[in-house]
Amino acid sequence: MESGLIVFSGNANRPLAERICRALNCDLGNASVTSFSDGETRVEIESNVRGRDVFIVQPTCAPANHHIMEALIMADACRRSSAQRITLVVPYFGYGRQERKSAPRTPITAKLVADLFASAGFDRVLSLELHTSAIQGFFNLPVDHLFAKPVFAKYLATRPDILEDLIVVSPDAGGVERARALAKYFNCGLAIVDKRRDRPNESTVMNLIGDVKGRNCLIVDDICDTGGSLAKTADALAENGAKGVYAVISHPVLSGQALARIEASALKEFICTDSIPLSEKSIKSSKIIQLTISDLFAEAIRRIHNSDSVSSLFV
Ligand code: R5P
Repeated sequence: MESGLIVFSGNANRPLAERICRALNCDLGNASVTSFSDGETRVEIESNVRGRDVFIVQPTCAPANHHIMEALIMADACRRSSAQRITLVVPYFGYGRQERKSAPRTPITAKLVADLFASAGFDRVLSLELHTSAIQGFFNLPVDHLFAKPVFAKYLATRPDILEDLIVVSPDAGGVERARALAKYFNCGLAIVDKRRDRPNESTVMNLIGDVKGRNCLIVDDICDTGGSLAKTADALAENGAKGVYAVISHPVLSGQALARIEASALKEFICTDSIPLSEKSIKSSKIIQLTISDLFAEAIRRIHNSDSVSSLFV
């Protein structure tokens, strides 16, 4: 246990916060985060935070607005209780896909949310696989941006059946950098899918760049939301002669028909992190494998607390 450090959790992913605390060898701080009868969030920090280095674990997954509000109010409570420093540990940064004006008269909601966190009193941010790295610049605070690659790479090292004849696939042009990093790590080829989106939450596979015939394809993406992109990419790869199709997805958002789409698709395995908790149904799916990021986050928290370098974790 590191002295002066205290970790709290909102209601978005308490099991992850508990796993992080186990890795840090400390207990989760006591805080009551509930709702009043009318639905307003009610927070009471029960552990003493005066002069302490506070970490609040709260991925802003669905219901995103509610979880954002919990984090804001928890920060406000800690700030008013004389915490020395407050870090937002946001393993999944919701609204990250609204990071630019995609059409006239549309908002940049990711920036708005970043501003809200700063106004509430957070002093720094620790996150994983932001939708684009540029979101770091939306905060006028230090941001430590972790990648899921070490967690996936460690697991894949135990799966020679996937690594044999491997080719890494980016499901869209925007994800090439992320996919290339894994292809470089495994010293294998890279294929790219040309995906188009005419409407929100609907995608079409237009072209496949690269030869996937007889290869094990590993799709790399930050988010699987409705499952449309992933299922269509997996099916296109199978139609083009892939031997097996697998996916590593940092954030299993899995809204709407996502699970049914994954189950019905050519995808053999959906490997994800626990940045977002899975539904009971998803846990039971034989295609879904969830790996924990708790050790990675615990190590980052320990280093931030001790003012040690975090850069060796950014690989
Ligand atoms: C898009 O740029 C993201 O990286 C994901 O590919 C996308 O959010 C997945 O969405 P869906 O599962 O709804 O197709």
